[in-house]
Amino acid sequence: MKDIKNLKRFIPMGILIGVIVILLGFIGFGYYQYVDLDTQNDSLRSRVAKLEDELGITTENLETTKEEKENLSAELNDKEEYVGQLRNQFEDIAGQVFILDKLSKTDEELLQKYSKIYFLNEHYVPEDLDNIPLTYLYDESKPKEVHAKVLPYLEDVIKDAADDGVTLWIVSAYRSYGTQGALKSGYSITYGSGANAFSADQGYSEHQLGTTIDFTTKNLGGGLNGFGDTEAYQWLQENAYKYGFVLSYSEDNSYYIFEPWHWRFVGVELAKELHKQGIGFYDMSQRGIDEYLISIFD
Ligand code: DAL
Ligand code: ZN
Repeated sequence: MKDIKNLKRFIPMGILIGVIVILLGFIGFGYYQYVDLDTQNDSLRSRVAKLEDELGITTENLETTKEEKENLSAELNDKEEYVGQLRNQFEDIAGQVFILDKLSKTDEELLQKYSKIYFLNEHYVPEDLDNIPLTYLYDESKPKEVHAKVLPYLEDVIKDAADDGVTLWIVSAYRSYGTQGALKSGYSITYGSGANAFSADQGYSEHQLGTTIDFTTKNLGGGLNGFGDTEAYQWLQENAYKYGFVLSYSEDNSYYIFEPWHWRFVGVELAKELHKQGIGFYDMSQRGIDEYLISIFD
């Protein structure tokens, strides 16, 4: 009986102890969980710190890279600017070389002034002379030559005048030093010193250049007198400059009598400029004229 009593007392005690053990178990497990989580937290915290460090380094690297990129961009811009300057200089030099080369191949006599005071050279002969097509001559039995590079311009003048119903015939073109001398001698015999008013001495004539033409037209019998009153002269005055031809000796020139038939090729660009300014070839300074030598056959 006593054992049973003891057992009765012992059972609640056992339950109590069981509860306590279970509680302790829970607490232990909770503590274990807490410790485990804390450990995990520590690990995560240290990983986050590490990542933050890495992020810091990466950001720093990024800044450095950005700065380097900006420096490189600036350097590239400088280089590009320098290359641009070099290219411009190269183009300038290439342009100058081209101009010098073109000028060296262009006969500078072609734009010199020749008249009573400007002397050519007794040995001067144009670089290349072509026969003028006979149909353009007043007298087809007397062949004539012209500077080869001027011929196309001359043909255009004559053809376009014809299209406008105007007849232009050539009575004189290239004249050598010798031919001019013989011509002047003949005039001098007939007119004495009066020949100086309309005929250049040998070496002083624009005709020796091969770029100068004397025109006649219908109803003048192949002569020059009266040409100034013809529609052919009127047409030349209005149009010749478009083809590069200018009137050398206008009514008020200080070298010779008025020569409405005598037209000299000076290049389209210069002829247009003279026309625009309303001045003659001999009114422009030689220095001004020389600037057009480069483009005389353009
Ligand atoms: N008739 C011009 C002036 C010459 O002889 O060239
Ligand atoms: Zn002439």
